[in-house]
Amino acid sequence: MSDSKAGALHPETRLVHAGTLRSQFGETSEALFLTQGHVYDSAEQCEARFLNKDPGFQYARFSNPTVSMLEARMAAFEGAQACRATATGMAAVTAALMSLVRAGDHVVAAQALFGSCRYVVEEHLPRYGVESTLVKGPDIEAWRKAVRPNTKVFFLESPANPTLEVIDIAAVAKLAKEVGAKLVVDNVFATPLFQRPLELGADVVVYSATKHIDGQGRCLGGLILGSEDIITPEVQTFLRQTGPAMSPFNAWVMLKALETLPLRVRQQAANARLVADWLLGQDKLPKVTFPGHPGHPQAEIIAKQMSGPSTLVAFEVAGGKEAAFRLLNALKLIRISNNLGDAKSLIVHPATTTHQRFSPEVRATMGVTDGLIRLSIGLEHPDDLIADLKQALAAV
Ligand SMILES: Cc1ncc(COP(=O)(O)O)c(C=O)c1O
Repeated sequence: MSDSKAGALHPETRLVHAGTLRSQFGETSEALFLTQGHVYDSAEQCEARFLNKDPGFQYARFSNPTVSMLEARMAAFEGAQACRATATGMAAVTAALMSLVRAGDHVVAAQALFGSCRYVVEEHLPRYGVESTLVKGPDIEAWRKAVRPNTKVFFLESPANPTLEVIDIAAVAKLAKEVGAKLVVDNVFATPLFQRPLELGADVVVYSATKHIDGQGRCLGGLILGSEDIITPEVQTFLRQTGPAMSPFNAWVMLKALETLPLRVRQQAANARLVADWLLGQDKLPKVTFPGHPGHPQAEIIAKQMSGPSTLVAFEVAGGKEAAFRLLNALKLIRISNNLGDAKSLIVHPATTTHQRFSPEVRATMGVTDGLIRLSIGLEHPDDLIADLKQALAAV
């Protein structure tokens, strides 16, 4: 039985109850249905199930009770009509984009993107006859100028990985509607708690659930949310036929993790603010970017579209790569890792990792300089994080 009343409740309540399917055993915690398939009472029932005339499950590549609970809970939280889970965040980004375009179409995307997102737009889609143009995301006129008669999709991340550049989602969504394109927003860095792209006019929202949704570094996953008329015919068909399904085990971990998402993300953001404030005062760091600071280049847009900052801080170390490596290597508590959104604070040098495959010139257009460091703040005591950064900065 699905908790149908959950949709009218506050977000925190929805994250605990929405989507629950209780078995005949009446379990309190959602069950893990670790099954590839389902059996039918008769060949007639099996036929009806395949014709979508009999409700129920068939095969875990299409749907699974635990995965469905996660999808329903996430849809209720995001205020989306529909949600589909995928094996990874990149599977979600790729499926969302591939299912919205055909050969001969054109995509406009922000140039400051996570490396793999940019690969899909810049290199993968063109192989199938879908051209793309990359624009400076915060410049709305650049989006307008890039539009062609065959533009079908706009794609952006905000805040962007790793620079935390912010884009006016409502303005891009308005333009997308004017020109008949669908806007897809990668909302990973904002988290579903602090930014609601569908309410700002986006058509599709994608997540790497690997990040804050799991939040404890265990499982990979992705989520795609939007209206029924996009998700069911386009995205669901693509996923069912091409197969990047989320494992039921991963869905179970994510489903349980959603119950604590507001607690974790609010605390991580509060910790990030304290760390970012401290970093701002340091001589060796010429630039500190945090979406909660009034000095953020897009502070006005942040005030308009985000209800909280981020759990990430980006900062520049004077002295380029060498100084950045010295800082990373001197840290004792904060660990070097390309992941983010974890309970553990993690730090990375984007120019040599997530954005390593781009030339220095391209990296410069994305704001990924040799001294740039991305810090994902976790659930440790902020004083311990600041003490670690302080001793490491002394080594630079
Ligand atoms: C903004 C953004 N989108 C998508 C992804 C891809 O997620 P996954 O690693 O789960 O495939 C990442 C991963 O770092 C990301 O930062």
